Amino acid sequence: MSTPLAFQPARFGALALRNRIVMAPMTRRMAGEDGLATEAIRAYYARRARHEVGLIVSEGTGIDSLHAYDTLSVPRFETAAQHAAWRAVVEAVHAEGGAFAPQLWHCGRMSADPIGPSPGEVAARGDRPARAVRAMEADDFAQVLAAYASAAAAARAIGCDALEVHGAHGYLLDSFLSPATNQRSDAYGGSFSARMRFPLEVARAVRAAVGPDFPVIYRFSQWQLADYAEVKWRTPDELGAWVNALKDAGVDLLHVSTRDATAPGFPDAGPKTLAGWARELSGLPVIAVGKVSVTLTMDRAYGEERDVVRDPGPALALLERGEADLLAVGRALIANPDWVQVVRDRDWRELRAFDAGQLAALV
Ligand SMILES: Cc1cc2nc3c(=O)[nH]c(=O)nc-3n(C[C@H](O)[C@H](O)[C@H](O)COP(=O)(O)O)c2cc1C
Repeated sequence: MSTPLAFQPARFGALALRNRIVMAPMTRRMAGEDGLATEAIRAYYARRARHEVGLIVSEGTGIDSLHAYDTLSVPRFETAAQHAAWRAVVEAVHAEGGAFAPQLWHCGRMSADPIGPSPGEVAARGDRPARAVRAMEADDFAQVLAAYASAAAAARAIGCDALEVHGAHGYLLDSFLSPATNQRSDAYGGSFSARMRFPLEVARAVRAAVGPDFPVIYRFSQWQLADYAEVKWRTPDELGAWVNALKDAGVDLLHVSTRDATAPGFPDAGPKTLAGWARELSGLPVIAVGKVSVTLTMDRAYGEERDVVRDPGPALALLERGEADLLAVGRALIANPDWVQVVRDRDWRELRAFDAGQLAALV
């Protein structure tokens, strides 16, 4: 049997990968003092590279010290010392033959000091009380654009292979897209195209900061943490307007965050996945993600239920079917640093099941 596409090398512009398996960005909240990526973080990513993950997208890393992160345990990407700590991670991943992209994160409404498009309240979550959101003003827009641009320039300067803009899940950029959180009546709110405006300004600022050839990935999602059922793009036409606007803003790859990579993107329009639609409508390469070799969706992963390993075959087949170019694996790569080798060379039934208890340590 020939090697599945997922395990074959690929090149997307300047991004050359030994295979098409991506480690999905996963927050671990284990930064050292002053937001530094530690030696344990370096070893954690290097281990996945040693076991042949093609591209590692880091956990979300906070791009400014005012509103971008939610706790001090999130590693940050703002100061020279923080960049140097990430450089050591990049070098360790390269030494193992892998490629590395930091995920540049601005928490916005969900930060320790919430800002967003409109005033509001963020509901209490876990041990965190409810918090008031301050609506962004002109200075805030300029500050966020500058923070994204300088983080992007730093990603390039420290030798990253690409960068990912975190535009998903209800954080700052996503909160502009959603009418539930964006009630502005100026140029940044109201119509769908006005709601896209700020995320696209960020994409353009990032592109300008890294120059024409550095690979820029943009991650977006239909859902958000506060509303798993949210639908931002009701039709393929709406999705098409969004993904083509990202393309025009200089984005090279789309990371389409779904809870199940194989689920139909628009159930009324046939079985094509959201990644498949994004790829077809934009012509850009896409990363698909969601429930690869795990059974529970993200919203149920932390409850009482136990996950069960399932066949990654249908998700791997998305690449053969032309619905995705890369496949990101999240929880299963926490449980199995050697996921690529087990699935490619042995038998997926040998995978360990994911269990939220595995998040307690960086292994
Ligand atoms: C512990 C954990 C932390 C996560 N943190 C992030 C994050 O920092 N940024 C992000 O875009 N997605 C984050 N996600 C979502 C994952 O990237 C991925 O989309 C999701 O886990 C679905 O993939 P899976 O079913 O293979 O786990 C996180 C998921 C988990 C389980």
